[in-house]
Amino acid sequence: MVGRSNRTDLSNLLVLKYGGQVLSQRAVRQRLLRELLTVQRRVPVLMVHGGGNEVTQLLTRLGLRTRFIRGLRYTDAPTLEAVEMVLSGKVNKAVVSELNALAGRSFPGAVGISGKDGKTLVGRRRGGLGAVGDPTQVTPRLLETLLAAGYLPVLSSVGMDEGGGGLNINADSAATAVAAALKADRLVFMTDVPGVLNGSGKLIARIRLAEVPVLIRRRVVSGGMIPKLEAAVQAIRHGVRSVEITDGRHGLAHPGTTICR
Ligand SMILES: Nc1ncnc2c1ncn2[C@@H]1O[C@H](COP(=O)(O)OP(=O)(O)OP(=O)(O)O)[C@@H](O)[C@H]1O
Ligand SMILES: [Mg+2]
Repeated sequence: MVGRSNRTDLSNLLVLKYGGQVLSQRAVRQRLLRELLTVQRRVPVLMVHGGGNEVTQLLTRLGLRTRFIRGLRYTDAPTLEAVEMVLSGKVNKAVVSELNALAGRSFPGAVGISGKDGKTLVGRRRGGLGAVGDPTQVTPRLLETLLAAGYLPVLSSVGMDEGGGGLNINADSAATAVAAALKADRLVFMTDVPGVLNGSGKLIARIRLAEVPVLIRRRVVSGGMIPKLEAAVQAIRHGVRSVEITDGRHGLAHPGTTICR
C-alpha cells in the first residue's frame, strides 16, 4: 500500500481550527474543505471546529437566552444540551459528510468525533460559567490511530469531566490542547476576520507572547478573540512551532496574524 494509508509520521501535523461563522457560509466552507483535502494529501491534518453562531441560533429558537463572559458562553444544563446537539451533532456530521462527498475515491474518509470519544478531551469546569471547562487531560490515542490509518479526524470541542458530564470547551482551547498533545507542527485558527486587528482596525502581522496580556488589558481585543489569543499563547508555550490566526474566507495561503515568542 502507498501514500496515506498506514501513515504514522505525525511530525508535520497541521491542526486547523474553523470558527462557526466561516463554516456556516456555504461557498466559504466548500472552498475551505477543498483546500483542506488538498493539504491532507501532503501532511496529516486534524480539523477542530467551533459553531458558536449555530448554537446561538438554536438557543434563540428554543427561547433560551445566551450570555457571554470574556468571550465564553455561560453554559447551564439546557445550554449544554444545545451545545452538544449543535456541535457534536449538526455541525460535526455536516462537515464530515461534505468532506466525504467532496473528496476523491482514494480518500479513506473523514471521521467525526467529540472530545468525549476515546476520552480525547477530559477537563474540569472553570467555575462561574456553568459547564464551561478547560481540558486538563488529552488522550491522543484515538486521534493518532485515525491519522495513522489515513483518516481525517474532525473534532468537536465538547469534552467530558471526570464524572462523565459534558463540558463546553472553547474550540480554540480544544484545538490548542490536541495540537500540544500531538506535538503538532502548525496550528491555524481560521476565523471570520483577517486576523488580530489593532485599535484602527488594521491587521497586526506579528504578536509576541508578552504583548497578549497588554492587548487584552487595553481592550484592543474583546469577545471571542480573547480565548483565541490565550489559546495561541498556550500553543506556542507547549512547543507548537507555528501558530496563526487567519481569515477563513481567504484560506490558508493568505497571511493573517502570526504569534511568536
Ligand atoms: N482586536 C480584534 N481583532 C479581530 N477580531 C476581534 C478583535 N476583538 C474582538 N474580535 C472579535 O473576535 C471574533 C472572532 O472570535 P469568535 O469566537 O467570534 O469566532 P471563532 O472563534 O472563529 O468561531 P467559534 O467561536 O464559533 O469557534 C471576531 O469576529 C471579532 O468580532
Ligand atoms: Mg470563538
